Amino acid sequence: MAGDASRYHAVYEGWTSDPEGFWLNEAKRIDWVDAPRKAFDASLGTYGRWYPDATCNTCFNAVDRHVRDGRGDQAAIIHDSPVTGQKRVITYARLLDEVAALAAVIARHGVEQGDRVILYMPMVPEALMAMLACARLGAVHSVVFGGFAPHELATRINDAQPKLIIAASCGIEPNRVVPYKPMLDQAIEEAHHKPLACLILQRPEREADLIAWRDFDWHQEMADARAKGLKADCVPVAATDPLYILYTSGTTGAPKGVVRDNGGHMVALAWSMEAIYDIKPGEVFWSASDVGWVVGHSYICYAPLLIGATTLVYEGKPVGTPDAGAFWRVIAEHNVVSLFTAPTAFRAIRKEDPDAALIKHYDLSRLRALFLAGERADPPTLKWAEEHLNIPVIDHWWQTETGWAIAANPLGLGLLPVVHGSPTVAMPGYDIQCLDDAGHPVPPGTLGNIVVKLPLPPSCLPTLWNADARFRAAYLDEFPGYYKTADAGMIDADGYVFIMARTDDIINVAGHRLSTGAMEEVLAGHPAIAECAVIGVADALKGQKPVGFVVLKAGRTASEAEVERECVAKVRAEIGPVADFKTMIEVKRLPKTRSGKILRGTMQKIADGLPWTMPATIDDPAILDEITQALSRRGITV
Ligand code: COA
Ligand code: AMP
Repeated sequence: MAGDASRYHAVYEGWTSDPEGFWLNEAKRIDWVDAPRKAFDASLGTYGRWYPDATCNTCFNAVDRHVRDGRGDQAAIIHDSPVTGQKRVITYARLLDEVAALAAVIARHGVEQGDRVILYMPMVPEALMAMLACARLGAVHSVVFGGFAPHELATRINDAQPKLIIAASCGIEPNRVVPYKPMLDQAIEEAHHKPLACLILQRPEREADLIAWRDFDWHQEMADARAKGLKADCVPVAATDPLYILYTSGTTGAPKGVVRDNGGHMVALAWSMEAIYDIKPGEVFWSASDVGWVVGHSYICYAPLLIGATTLVYEGKPVGTPDAGAFWRVIAEHNVVSLFTAPTAFRAIRKEDPDAALIKHYDLSRLRALFLAGERADPPTLKWAEEHLNIPVIDHWWQTETGWAIAANPLGLGLLPVVHGSPTVAMPGYDIQCLDDAGHPVPPGTLGNIVVKLPLPPSCLPTLWNADARFRAAYLDEFPGYYKTADAGMIDADGYVFIMARTDDIINVAGHRLSTGAMEEVLAGHPAIAECAVIGVADALKGQKPVGFVVLKAGRTASEAEVERECVAKVRAEIGPVADFKTMIEVKRLPKTRSGKILRGTMQKIADGLPWTMPATIDDPAILDEITQALSRRGITV
């Protein structure tokens, strides 16, 4: 049996018996300025800090040391962009040259260690260069996904207070060019914090107008720095200093600024590349995500580069650029050994090419494994991928907050038996438990709240940006001594973890994490809407899709269709196209408890055709029939 040969149990046991020794030993994967003598100090921060006495530089470990060690001519980044028809290979030597010059440009704009820089970039190598250049200076980057609207960008500008914003002139979706610069201008206009300058990467598909006193042209600035021979050195930072802030949906409209440190992040990612993904230096690893998400931070940018592998930056989609064979083409053409993507991408491919006929056109013999994360991997999709690729398909579970897998089947340690529907077992560093709402452990196989016993391992968030109290309230207070994942699920008698649903108002649309609360805030701002509730309804392609239920104000003249059109446009304008909000249903009233709480969970069960029971505290049971009728009127049923 596969599991008999796995080193997993021995390695996990090695961690439980000596966590300090385990993480001190793993720290040897990194070139430190001052190596850690201590792995963890429980007295620091909100629950302790990793490698408190060490200093390091993440850019040095991701770039410089590979050039020093003879990998200068090896590809560091391969850019494959079917939406522009371009392909580019950037060696480690070239990457070092670019990043050192870019860091000098950034420094000339007054950015110093600890200052924040916001990046609003599509899937181009310059996005990674900008991240690395910030890391080189000890500056803290915060990447904002290109599918977010100006208001979301403005919220992040206000919270992170960047000195500089680096943006591209445009992104490219298969059906349109997305001009970023007007959105950037609008966001800066809206934000009360103003950056000192913006560095704009002009792309030929849509050049942007620059504001003379504020905007600088990336290419000109780089040419000028090169002409002057300017290059910035790596700045040693404390291992506990922040490397980046990544905003993620919280339970209210305001996104949470997840903080990632330098030292612990490097150690955990380097460990994961070997033990979970089984990637060796020099091999090509492809994470088909976006730099705007945590998967992009960890497995497009940092992890592959930290171990001297080659990372693939793909600017395209699984389907439509040009067809459902796009992934196979990229794998074959660039010798990809491992692919990481979200299950939704495979559902999209399967929908267009159910028999995987296009696979036959490509040589996928080098591909060793497929890793899936970002949302629940539904067993039919898993089986389809296994059958047609004939390689291990590995579901693993993690969150923006952790930066790497909480549960996985570690290919590098030897696979454990695969159980469809389970991301397998806890990774070293994570003591995963399942508790009832009162905080008591539940028996194996029983649904409950999935929590992680403190302390969290290296790379996990030490806090939220400038918000220790919010961090404690959101993650630590409900189950004292544990980190609340806000995922519900169960753990079976063999330690296999099953992740079923979120316990908060977060929904997962095409692997993108979105807050229904934030969408409700937008709908509530519509003048015709008296009351609203947004829920995530199961969707065969995207996992979930948001659906809004609204009660319109008495006396309004607009029809349901008109209000729906306006609301769709409003969510698109205020949150962004990525929210994928397309359906709004008018109802006479919303189902509530007697204390006035909207019964979103019950509405969701009705919409998904799942069994549900009448809540004992419901104000008026007849309203649930009205919801059922409204759903069937709009063709969303059961
Ligand atoms: N910039 C601007 N707009 C963007 C964008 C970006 N970076 N990314 C997505 N959008 C837009 C899309 O164009 C689309 O707009 P539309 O409503 O005008 O069509 C909208 O946001 C929704 O995008 P998406 O959810 O990606 O849907 P899609 O229909 O374009 O593609 C999939 C569907 C399944 C092919 C696509 O979601 C996919 O590749 N998913 C993989 C998931 C993934 O990478 N997740 C990251 C976490 S691992
Ligand atoms: P994000 O922070 O965007 O990575 O989203 C994290 C959330 O996505 C988790 O809390 C889960 O709800 C969900 N998720 C991620 N990976 C998985 C998985 N493998 N199985 C089930 N849910 C997942």
